[in-house]
Amino acid sequence: MPALITENITAGYGRTPIINDISLSADVGTITAIIGPNGAGKSTYAKTLVGVLRAVTGRIVVNDLDITKMPGHLIPRNGLVYVPQNENVFTNLTVRENLEVGGFAVRGNTDARLEEILDIFTDLKKAQGKKAGYLSGGQQNLLAIARSLMVEPTVIVLDEPTAGLSPAYTDVVWNQIDLIAKSGTAVLVVEQNVERALAHADFVHIFVAGSNHMHGPTSEIAKHDLAAIFLGRAEATSS
Ligand SMILES: Nc1ncnc2c1ncn2[C@@H]1O[C@H](COP(=O)(O)OP(=O)(O)O)[C@@H](O)[C@H]1O
Ligand SMILES: [Mg+2]
Repeated sequence: MPALITENITAGYGRTPIINDISLSADVGTITAIIGPNGAGKSTYAKTLVGVLRAVTGRIVVNDLDITKMPGHLIPRNGLVYVPQNENVFTNLTVRENLEVGGFAVRGNTDARLEEILDIFTDLKKAQGKKAGYLSGGQQNLLAIARSLMVEPTVIVLDEPTAGLSPAYTDVVWNQIDLIAKSGTAVLVVEQNVERALAHADFVHIFVAGSNHMHGPTSEIAKHDLAAIFLGRAEATSS
């Protein structure tokens, strides 16, 4: 059974749904990318998974547990974490303190986990005593990702983790994302850069105008005219 199952999710900000009938599943050890034009509803979907927005219809299941109506603050300790596009670190706290805050969501001692994380994120290890506000934008994104991993989630949802980063630092972040998936996590990533998504993801979903327009293994998706789909000249076939 997939670590994350979402079925027929419809959600929005007011009465009018923004996303319609979205179904998507993700397995541990894999990277699932969501791509699509601006305003397609990618962030809306991500926020609905973690209880920032509530699904009007549909079901969200993590580790065999239905979290559709679970209070948002309980969702991380039940296996699903979310790193928003902006926010996303405490600039007045050090790198190490930011990670400690990430551990508050779990009971018990998280010292060992913190050391594990620092061993994976070598850039952060070097800067662990620095205030997060002094890190580069890319390092701050990595810190936000690292902090969310403190709870040892089964599923991590990343909303455009490389937006605004240099190509070199985009590589760094994607290499970390690869490692996170390999360590036994289901990674769901919203990515604005189609080439990067195709290069790293195992599965791709294309959202267009609030719908999951097309999805499949990356090799299948790569065969389609994605530019045409992004521009709204939808192909006749969708899977
Ligand atoms: N807080 C909000 N209130 C009302 N409408 C919103 C809000 N955030 C986004 N929207 C609308 O929802 C649609 C989808 O936005 P979003 O999910 O952010 O798209 P994407 O992440 O794919 O670029 C857009 O039309 C956007 O204007
Ligand atoms: Mg977005």
